[in-house]
Amino acid sequence: MSSNTTKQTTPVEVTAPEATSSTDPLHLIDVDHVRIYVGNAKQASFYYAYAFGFQVTQYEDLTTGNREQASYLLTQGNIRIILTTGLSKDHEAQEHIRLHGDGVKDIAFTVFDAEKAFNRAVENGAEIAYEPYTVEDDHGTVTRAGIKTYGQVIHSFVSRTGNYALPNVKHGNTILPGFASMTHPLNKFNEDNPCGLKFLDHCVGNVELDGMNKAVDWYENVLEFSMFKHFDDEDISTEYSALMSKVMSSGGGLIKFPINEPAEGKRKSQIQEYLDWHNDTPGVQHLAFRTNDAIQSIAELRRRGVNFLDIPKEYYEIVWDRVGDIEEEKKIVQDLGILIDRDDQGYLLQLFTRPVQDRPTLFFEIICRRGSQSFGKGNFKALFEALELEQERRGNL
Ligand code: FE2
Repeated sequence: MSSNTTKQTTPVEVTAPEATSSTDPLHLIDVDHVRIYVGNAKQASFYYAYAFGFQVTQYEDLTTGNREQASYLLTQGNIRIILTTGLSKDHEAQEHIRLHGDGVKDIAFTVFDAEKAFNRAVENGAEIAYEPYTVEDDHGTVTRAGIKTYGQVIHSFVSRTGNYALPNVKHGNTILPGFASMTHPLNKFNEDNPCGLKFLDHCVGNVELDGMNKAVDWYENVLEFSMFKHFDDEDISTEYSALMSKVMSSGGGLIKFPINEPAEGKRKSQIQEYLDWHNDTPGVQHLAFRTNDAIQSIAELRRRGVNFLDIPKEYYEIVWDRVGDIEEEKKIVQDLGILIDRDDQGYLLQLFTRPVQDRPTLFFEIICRRGSQSFGKGNFKALFEALELEQERRGNL
């Protein structure tokens, strides 16, 4: 990538919304971490470090005294991902991997009191994943409790004191008791060549046919989320898209959870392909990472070899009529294969990776919002044509 692909615009610092209320037990302060179960955490940490620029800063394994599992903490901006693998056949991560391959297990929320949040969610009808428990050491406490959402995915509530308080974790303190700090050979390179990913913008779940409304109700009733109303909040179902989607938003606007279900189309729905390769079980389809500079981030990610969806050339013949002028230089946007969409509040730039493991399941999105709060509906047709080409190559149409 030549140097003329560097950014054109003045970056606007974007941060996740902060908590303002400590009286609501389900007030989500932050996305505490996302736990991904992987077949080999040591190797996966290298992939995420190199391909996506995550710092690998903490770990737990046999050498730290953990005889159950090995984990690596990856950080970038306000994103914390824990890659975990089991050390024996009986660890639940191993069953998860056998049935689903690598995938998201837990989207954990920081709350003021994990036990209170858990109790409220259970009163609201949540099924228990695990009961509250507190681990305490000289540095402070971490209390965790978990509830089950769609498929095998859970939401943990996490409350923290002392050095384990989230602001301290953001400054490099230990994320969970038992983790040890580490250096990684790619950390310096990543510091010098940032990918600019800031925080988790949204987390998309794929559920079974007719499962969408059930999942939507779950977020409304159990976590007290509300339906995200925006200009394109109607169900999406075209001959190309072949899916239906509704978006749920947390009370404080911290994070959004779009839920997709397959729909009848001319071809097999991409949601159905996901389910076919995910043991017919709902799960997380993609995590969207926010950047404030799409050009810089995507240029750097491409330089690192991240495998993005190919956008058909024809897309750019019509897109500018649809979205009009943007701050970024259009030629660079096109050269980098970035998608653009506009709504009544502004526009967005986005791009989707191919699946990040061998099964066509979990992938990532890079998204940059310039006012728009939607999800790129205008890109669906162009995008799904591209996805169909991919499905065809995999023999799954
Ligand atoms: Fe998305």
